[in-house]
Amino acid sequence: MKNEKTRQLIERLAKDHTLDFDEYVFLCENGESELEYASHLAEQIRQEVYGRDVYIRGLIEVSNYCKNDCLYCGIRRSNRDCERYRLDKQTILSCCDEGYALGFRTFVLQGGEDSHFTDDFVCDTVGAIKEKYPDAAVTLSLGERSRESYKALREAGADRYLLRHETADSEHYARLHPSNLTLESRMKCLYDLRELGYQVGCGFMVGSPYQTSENLAKDLAFIEKFRPDMCGIGPFIAHHATPFASFESGTLEKTLLMLAMVRMIHPNVLLPATTALGTIHDRGREMGILAGANVIMPNLSPAEDRLKYMLYDNKLSSGAEAAENKRDLERRMEDIGYRIVTARGDVKR
Ligand code: 5AD
Repeated sequence: MKNEKTRQLIERLAKDHTLDFDEYVFLCENGESELEYASHLAEQIRQEVYGRDVYIRGLIEVSNYCKNDCLYCGIRRSNRDCERYRLDKQTILSCCDEGYALGFRTFVLQGGEDSHFTDDFVCDTVGAIKEKYPDAAVTLSLGERSRESYKALREAGADRYLLRHETADSEHYARLHPSNLTLESRMKCLYDLRELGYQVGCGFMVGSPYQTSENLAKDLAFIEKFRPDMCGIGPFIAHHATPFASFESGTLEKTLLMLAMVRMIHPNVLLPATTALGTIHDRGREMGILAGANVIMPNLSPAEDRLKYMLYDNKLSSGAEAAENKRDLERRMEDIGYRIVTARGDVKR
């Protein structure tokens, strides 16, 4: 009975790309029993838009200094055990050189909210990357900044911006963040970025502390409304030096279900099989691709700093996760019938 209803809702979502709120809640609660069916339909939809191409992004973790104190995050300000580092312009450019030679045509500069990353510094760095590699896209992921700042970075050449909304429910947001951070200001940033002409990515964690099926349904309804160009979804994984150290991780199955549902809601979205998904299962990224994801973001950071960007325990940074092991990643994708491509991989609109 229940499985019949689950299948019908999945089928309707794949066809209409929308459900009522209560139906989203029902699928967030029960959809895992029909995960294979959901993955299959999501994969079909992804293939109609993007074929069997997987886009790669070179992820450069530019700084683990952060002024924020998000309760889930291993690089939160009050984690005194975190050894801090930041990359200078030359080092970032060297990472891009290495990435370009490996076939990366998108560089993602991601970091904590580090006051050293002023508009002048970031504009100068982005400008230098774009001058050297005009055929590459630059994605920034540097947290919340003012509209003026986003405007300056955009004018310096940044093409895309990733800023996960983390949860679309303001009360849940308040349980994951200190009181100076609000869902309202996060949303303002996302709409500012959109207006300024960025390709914009939002996203959320699956299985974060206190998360309910209603919370997840709100994430899906938000994605339906906002229609982000990119959407980062991964399981919550505890970090030992945070207030959430003893919480359970999000599950593989629930994360795959969310990937499949987001693909069905928004066929054109660029959807990464995230590092966190690869961390909870050694075939996590492959399963993510088979559930509708079409992007992988290997790590291009300097080897000596990789272990310092520890957002959660056991975060992968070697093996197929490391950009220099692209061959390994290619083989893993070939094994499931997909191919890594060198294209910039902009969103299809
Ligand atoms: N588990 C999973 N994901 C996390 N992030 C931060 N901390 C964790 C954690 N403990 C995610 C957040 C953030 C992104 C850069 O990493 O969603 O936006």
